[in-house]
Parts: sequence; C-alpha cells; structure tokens
Amino acid sequence: MNILLTGGLGYIGSHLALGLLKNKKTKLTIVDDLSNAKLSTKNTIKYLSKKKFKFKKLDLKNKNKLQKLFKVGKFDLIFHLAGSKSVKESQINPKKYYENNVIGSINLLHAMIENNVKNIIFSSTATVYGLHKKNCYSENFSREPINTYGLTKKIIEDLLIDLKEKNQINTLILRYFNPAGCHISGLLGENPQGIPNNLYPYIIKIIKGEVKYLKIFGNNYKTKDGTGARDYIHIQDLVDAHLKCIKLVKKKSDIFNIGTGRPYTVLDIINSFKKYCNFKINYNFYSRREGDIDIYYNKISKAKKKLGWSAKRGLKEISQSTFNFAIKSK
Ligand code: UFG
Repeated sequence: MNILLTGGLGYIGSHLALGLLKNKKTKLTIVDDLSNAKLSTKNTIKYLSKKKFKFKKLDLKNKNKLQKLFKVGKFDLIFHLAGSKSVKESQINPKKYYENNVIGSINLLHAMIENNVKNIIFSSTATVYGLHKKNCYSENFSREPINTYGLTKKIIEDLLIDLKEKNQINTLILRYFNPAGCHISGLLGENPQGIPNNLYPYIIKIIKGEVKYLKIFGNNYKTKDGTGARDYIHIQDLVDAHLKCIKLVKKKSDIFNIGTGRPYTVLDIINSFKKYCNFKINYNFYSRREGDIDIYYNKISKAKKKLGWSAKRGLKEISQSTFNFAIKSK
C-alpha cells in the first residue's frame, strides 16, 4: 500500500511513521514543512525502522508542489497530521491557523480528488468539543470549540464530512485527547523549542535540568486535589489506533475519540514520576490558565466496539518513556 503521511516528522507523525514501516508491504512517503519538527528526525526514523521511505520538505500551502507529489505518488491512503497545534498561539495569530490548517487541508483534499485518491485518516482533537456539563466526552457531543485552533480542526472535519457525504472520499476522523509519552528507544519524543505550553514537554525540560520547577496552573479546580485533570494517551497506543484505521477506512467513514477513559490530575502526573522513575518534580501553584477546564476524559466505548481498539498503557509507561527520552536527549 502506498501511504502519504503529512506532518510525519512531528511528535505524533514520527511515531506513526515507525508503526507504518513495520508492515513490509507499505511504501511510505512523508512530508513535513519542518515548522515544528527537525530534519534529523528523518534519520532517527530510518535508524529505528531500518526501512526505506521517501521524504519531501513540503508546505501544504504550496499547491503546485502538492500536485506534483500526487502525480508521482499514486497514493492509496493519506494520514493527515500536518497542522499548527498551539491553542495559545492560535488566539494570538489566528490567520496562521486558518492558513496552515484550513487552507493546507483544502489543498490536500483538492489534490486527492484531482488524483482520485479516496482514503484519508485525519488527526483531529478533543478540543473541538469545547465545554460541556458532563466530564466524560462521547463522539456525539456537540462541537463548540472555544479557541481558533479547535475551530480550524472543526472546519476541516466539516469539509471531510461533506466530501464523504458526496461520495468523493472515505474518511476516519480521530479526536485525540492528550497525547503523552515517548518511543521506547528514548530517541523520539516531544521536545519543542523555547518554553513549552503543554504539561509533558515542560516536565521534560525539568528532567533535563533546563527549568527548575513546574508552574501548576490552578489548585482550585473541581477535582480530587484541585489541579486540572486530563485523559493522557500513550503515543504508542495512539499509533495503534491509527494502524487499526487502515482496514476500516475503505469500508466505513466514522469519527472516534482516542483516549484512555481515565483522567489524571497534574499532581497525579508529578507523583507518577516519583513512583515509577524515582524523580522528584518541584512545583509551585500559579493562577488558572485562561480557557482551561476542570476535568475531561474520553468515553471509550465507540472505539472499542467499532475500531477494535483500546489503550493498553498507563501512567507507568508514559512517565518511564518520558524520563528515558529526557535523559537521552540531555
Ligand atoms: N498544566 C500546568 N502547567 C503547565 C502546563 C500545563 O499546570 O506548565 C496543566 C494544565 O492547566 C492542565 C494540564 O496541565 O490542567 C494539561 O495541560 P496541557 O497544556 O498539557 O493540555 P490541555 O489539556 O490544556 O490541551 C492539550 C493541547 C491541545 C489539545 C488538547 C487535547 O494543548 O492542543 O490537549 O484535548 F488539543
């Protein structure tokens, strides 16, 4: 099978590339604009997989390059992960998010339809749901994103659903909860430049000794210890969910939440590093971050039943693989 993976050198994309390359019959082409990924990741994927694949530096906004890629590629399936993903940045610079996420995806869909490529698996986010009274989110919750990042993902979902209804494409939409953890080798993980916004990349900086303590945003949330609670999904479980989609996408278009169904607070995460890695994370409490919610997690039943997938790993695997990656990338 000929597969195109967009955003394939990023945190999730690089792990997915390794998963895809395990299948001997897969011919993989990776594209990435390197806006939030390093070119050296290409060599890490080669080293870990011992397999060949094609790589092109490509910005999906470049329609001509995209058309050329499709003419040569003859793809059977697209994994579309490319996109900008910072909630905070999307509020400050919404134009970038409409251009990179929405226009980039429109160009990709255009190239697919022109070249008669039918199947696409799209990386969406639980952020599309916004705020709801219930904490356990199911796929049929209404989508009311509260930031531009979430809104761009919702717009792309709508495009996919419309094209699917007009029989132009087959699509599976995966709404990720909070991806976390790193590759077992310790050679791949999430390590953004500058001060990270998200919890685990920040903890990685602490383990590496680049930052002294964690700023916990809020200690008066309606959770067991007052700190925010999320559904952290191990990157390898996330990859496994994508691999399950390969067979299904041709038969049925659908939408799946991808999470564990178990919420953990920020203090749970801190304690997991003490318990499983014997590493103490120092912290101080700060005021709440704007737009943060108390607690939310995935209702796992649909993916279990229809995709035949559920998460197998927990905080132990997440903290140990994160610690291993942080030490190795020091
Ligand atoms: N947190 C801290 N300190 C930090 C970073 C985070 O206390 O330095 C807390 C947050 O307040 C929250 C929890 O850790 O309670 C998780 O925060 P993240 O920023 O890691 O994750 P979010 O749930 O806020 O959002 C993330 C991504 C989105 C993605 C979403 C999926 O930012 O891009 O998960 O649901 F879409």
